[in-house]
Amino acid sequence: MSKKIFSGVQPTGNLHLGNYLGAIKNFVNLQKEKDNTCIYCVVDLHAITVKQDPRILKKNIRETTATFLASGLDPKKSIIFNQSMVPSHSEGAWLLGCVARMGWLNRMTQFKEKAGKDKEKASVGLYIYPVLMASDILLYNSTHVPVGEDQKQHLELTRDIAQKFNLDFNSPNFLITPEPLIQKNFSRIMSLKDGKKKMSKSDPSDQSRINMTDDKDQIVNKIKKAKTDSGEFPENNNDLNKRPELNNLFGIYSSIQDQDMKSTINEFQGKNFSEFKNRLAEVLVEKIYPISKEISKLLKDEKYIDEVLIEGSVKAEKIAKKKVYDIKEKIGF
Ligand code: AMP
Ligand code: TRP
Repeated sequence: MSKKIFSGVQPTGNLHLGNYLGAIKNFVNLQKEKDNTCIYCVVDLHAITVKQDPRILKKNIRETTATFLASGLDPKKSIIFNQSMVPSHSEGAWLLGCVARMGWLNRMTQFKEKAGKDKEKASVGLYIYPVLMASDILLYNSTHVPVGEDQKQHLELTRDIAQKFNLDFNSPNFLITPEPLIQKNFSRIMSLKDGKKKMSKSDPSDQSRINMTDDKDQIVNKIKKAKTDSGEFPENNNDLNKRPELNNLFGIYSSIQDQDMKSTINEFQGKNFSEFKNRLAEVLVEKIYPISKEISKLLKDEKYIDEVLIEGSVKAEKIAKKKVYDIKEKIGF
């Protein structure tokens, strides 16, 4: 069956191994499937839900686009664009925001996490962020949305909004309810310093993550220093269950090598931690460093990156505008 794929990544700097293994690698695989239509968006309107420095934002938009391209996304095969250049997303968010219920948004855990203790000071944008995300997805009649585990709740909200709109305006199947595509294994890559915390752009410690722009030495050094524990080298899957740091490192190795955990454990039978870490660093350098090199090369040609985004935005706006028109017609405008 042909799939309509849509996904987005925020241009907030420091794209890391978690973004790559949890999302971008999957984007590239989906682009390879013959009948898929793929649309990948740099969601810069989502980024401004928290304060951004205008010059750094512009740099990060280009860097995220360069990471897409360097990882293997091809503007001839996929539509690649940034959200702020397609005004229909914002218009759609308003229209859908009048269908979404406060009670639904109040349940969103990402808002609670990001707003922290002082909810009164969070931007209104941060609160309605999931409605904009629903607009992104629904305007393209997307059937499948590849995301990391943390976005599952937002996808459920998108489905609720689609269903309520269809019901309220007596239009069965008009807005398509999308399915999340979440990697079954290794969907959460954890911090290299704390196996219970997600690897994250915003972690103040750079040692906690492998950035997609790290060079060889940085990758090797971070893996060497990655936290393990003082237990024995694991012999089977059960050994890993209660050892979050090791579980994460074995997971990263398995994910990058496209193999299951069992094969990884078998591969290292009779070896020790330093042999495992050396090999892990080696495969990361093999797979991530070429992407890092390509990102630096692409970033030297800002004109090319900007052209990719402009061309992608023109294609995206054509599709999104039509859907906004249809939505408005249903509403009575
Ligand atoms: P964000 O950086 O929050 O815009 O996330 C971009 C994509 O990467 C989303 O699909 C996230 O779910 C995914 N992602 C972010 N951090 C991780 C992580 N540590 N492990 C797996 N996936 C992640
Ligand atoms: N909220 C997503 C994140 O933080 C990014 C995003 C915005 C997105 N719009 C989207 C992902 C549409 C998938 C589809 O990772």
